[in-house]
Amino acid sequence: MSSLSKIKNKKIPQHVAIIMDGNGRWAKILGKERSFGHQKGISSVKHVLEASLKLNIKYLTLFAFSKENWERPTLEVKIIMELLAKSITKYKKKLIENNVKLNIIGDLNDLPSNSREAIKNAIKETNNNNNNITLTIALSYSSRWEITNSIKKICNDIIRRKIKLKKITVDMVNNYLCTNNLPYPDLLIRTGGEKRISNFLLWQLAYAELYFTKTNWPDFNKRNFYNAIFEYQKRERRFGKVN
Ligand code: IPE
Ligand code: IPE
Ligand code: MG
Repeated sequence: MSSLSKIKNKKIPQHVAIIMDGNGRWAKILGKERSFGHQKGISSVKHVLEASLKLNIKYLTLFAFSKENWERPTLEVKIIMELLAKSITKYKKKLIENNVKLNIIGDLNDLPSNSREAIKNAIKETNNNNNNITLTIALSYSSRWEITNSIKKICNDIIRRKIKLKKITVDMVNNYLCTNNLPYPDLLIRTGGEKRISNFLLWQLAYAELYFTKTNWPDFNKRNFYNAIFEYQKRERRFGKVN
C-alpha cells in the first residue's frame, strides 16, 4: 500500500489516462441496478481529480463513454448521458475554483442536445486561464473512429494541396487527432479487472505504462490511485532504447 508521502518526491507522470470500468458489476454485487454504479462512479472521479491536483499531475484523461457504449440498453445510455451533464454542471464551479481546464474528446454531435450544451458551457467557462490541470473526458470516443477521421482530414488536405503526401510525419498525424493539444499518456490505469484497451487512445498509448486493477471504478479511491502511481514509479521506461 502506498501513501502520498511515499510517491510525492519521486517521478510523477505528466499525463494519466484511466479506463473507468466495472460500474455495472459493482452494482450487481450489491443487488442494485447498473445505473447505481455509474452514479457512485462520479465520486471516484472526484477522488482521482483531487489526488491528481495534490500530485501536480498536469493531464488527467478519463474514458467515460465509448462509441460502442451507444449499443447498450436505451435506458442505461439515457441515464449515463443525464448523469454526465448534471455532474459537469454541478461541479463546474469547483473546477473553476481549482483551476481545472475541462476538455472533451469524442463526437459531441452524438450527444442529446441538453447534455451537449451543458458540456460546451462548462468548457467555455473553464478554459480562460485555468492551468492547474487539463481534465479530458472521452465521451462518445473510440480510437478507431478518431484515426479514421484524421485520415479523412489528411486526405482532404492533400486534395486541397494544403499538405504534401511526402511531407507527412508522425508529429503531423498526431496533430490531426483529437488529442493534439495533449502530451502522450505516461500511465494508463484500467479498473474492473479486464486486461484490454477497448478502443481507447490506441495511437497515444504506444509507450504508456499499463496498470490493471481488479478494483471496480466505484470503489477506486485516492489510495488506489496512489498505488498505481507507486507502481509506475518502479517501472523502467526505455522507449525502445537501451538505458
Ligand atoms: C464503465 O463501467 C462505465 C461505462 C462503460 C459507461 P461498465 O458500465 O462497463 O461496468 P461493467 O464493466 O459492466 O461492470
Ligand atoms: C470501456 O469499458 C469504456 C469505458 C470505460 C467508457 P467497456 O465496459 O465498454 O469495455 P469492454 O466492453 O469490457 O471491452
Ligand atoms: Mg465495462
